[in-house]
Amino acid sequence: LETNNIPHPKEKLFLGNLLDLQSGRRVQDMMKLAREYGPIYQLNMPGRSLIIVSGYELVKELADEKRFDKKVWAPLQNVRSFAGDGLFTSWTQEHNWHKAHNILMPNFSMRAMQGYLPMMIDIAEQLVGKWDRLNSDDEIDVPGDMTRLTLDTIGLCGFDYRFNSFYREDMHPFVNSMVRALQEAMERGGRLPFEDKLLVHKNRQFQADTEFLNSVVDRIIKERREGGEDSSQKKDLLSYMLTGTDKQSGEHLDDLNIRYQIITFLIAGHETTSGLLSFALYELLHHPEVLAKAYEEVDRVLGSDLTAHPTFNQVNQLRYVTQILQETLRLWPTAPAFAVYPLNDEEIIGGKYKVTKDEDIAVLIPMLHRDRAIWGDNPDAFDPEHFSPEAEQSRPADAYKPFGNGQRACIGRQFAMQEATLVLGMLLQRYHFIDHTNYQFKIKETLTIKPDDFKIKVRKRTDAE
Ligand code: HEM
Repeated sequence: LETNNIPHPKEKLFLGNLLDLQSGRRVQDMMKLAREYGPIYQLNMPGRSLIIVSGYELVKELADEKRFDKKVWAPLQNVRSFAGDGLFTSWTQEHNWHKAHNILMPNFSMRAMQGYLPMMIDIAEQLVGKWDRLNSDDEIDVPGDMTRLTLDTIGLCGFDYRFNSFYREDMHPFVNSMVRALQEAMERGGRLPFEDKLLVHKNRQFQADTEFLNSVVDRIIKERREGGEDSSQKKDLLSYMLTGTDKQSGEHLDDLNIRYQIITFLIAGHETTSGLLSFALYELLHHPEVLAKAYEEVDRVLGSDLTAHPTFNQVNQLRYVTQILQETLRLWPTAPAFAVYPLNDEEIIGGKYKVTKDEDIAVLIPMLHRDRAIWGDNPDAFDPEHFSPEAEQSRPADAYKPFGNGQRACIGRQFAMQEATLVLGMLLQRYHFIDHTNYQFKIKETLTIKPDDFKIKVRKRTDAE
């Protein structure tokens, strides 16, 4: 493989740079290499070449949709075995991407968000219901409870299904299969092709998990189709998928594609948002001055009546809480990378680096978000003022990309931000947070990143004051 003039770490015989990225800490290793090799570097893996870009000036070029388009790169190709041609794992030129994009976009408008709020509140009430009933020395598994919350929320808003995760100790079997399948999809990227074939047990498990996911989702679709009148009244994503027509082609989505979309929404819609909420709580524990301002805002906007449900307007008025979440996504973008390819066979970026269609060109978001040219000399410091209206106005758009790029950007971004703002607001309204383990920050990597083994205790604010 040609490396031309792109900086790259030394390669090992046969393995190339395979060992530079360790399983379970690939993103963190990529960040370390970016600090060492700069805004663009290349890794050669057996059978593929990976170019990792994290400087703003270069990302600005990759974000130009006239020159580059989303690539379904190695990690996504493995996810494609169970997410098929759903929105997240399809190529832009696939007919089903356009069709589903056109049909589903209206379901993520501001108006649609207003419709999802009562369902989001329903699940958020279950979370605080659980935390309210804890004894004072009970500990909370933060990423665990946040995953229960976000999974149940997308289940309810997506297809009126209740995973009821707060009513069980273990995760729902569907979640276990999904997480295992995602994990396997990720690990395949770090193995040699012949190793993959040797892992008979893992392959069987992957197949069994995929079949289980399909069967659960196909049953939900079938039940809805057979449900008659009553089900056609439902205002969830599934009902739009079943009835919506693409104005461009006049077509509906077929059942196989609907299955893939549901699996996609479950994957895309829960780990990312739960990681966001978990990192945000971590940052709040370490920044008392930010926490104090957040309490002040929540008390002003939501007040102290814990029986009143937050309204759509109130959630939108939680400006500082939103800034906290945006800043959390700057340092810890929970979907940490996306890939593009040049629409022409090759392109020159940065005036001197040749990149081609065959390489995986990945934008490493956590390091883009630490580019000193944009964020100043202390880019690792957590500071929600980065998202004050003034700061936002003076910053170029492509410097901040936690939700990806252009037409292939996250369809669920408003959904995620509304959910996270609501929940963080409700938690701040109710609790003091206690770091009783003196938590040592550690990241767990799957398809997403989240704080590993992060536990806290809470005290009701009404008790303490
Ligand atoms: C795409 C991030 C929440 C559904 C993406 C992409 C990113 C992203 C970076 C682009 C991926 C790529 O280019 O390969 C996030 C983050 C979230 C979040 C950080 C939470 C904090 C959600 C939610 C949903 C969702 C809640 C669903 C309700 C999707 C879908 C796509 C996508 C369907 C593919 C869109 C397309 O290509 O047409 N997301 N996401 N995401 N996300 Fe999200």
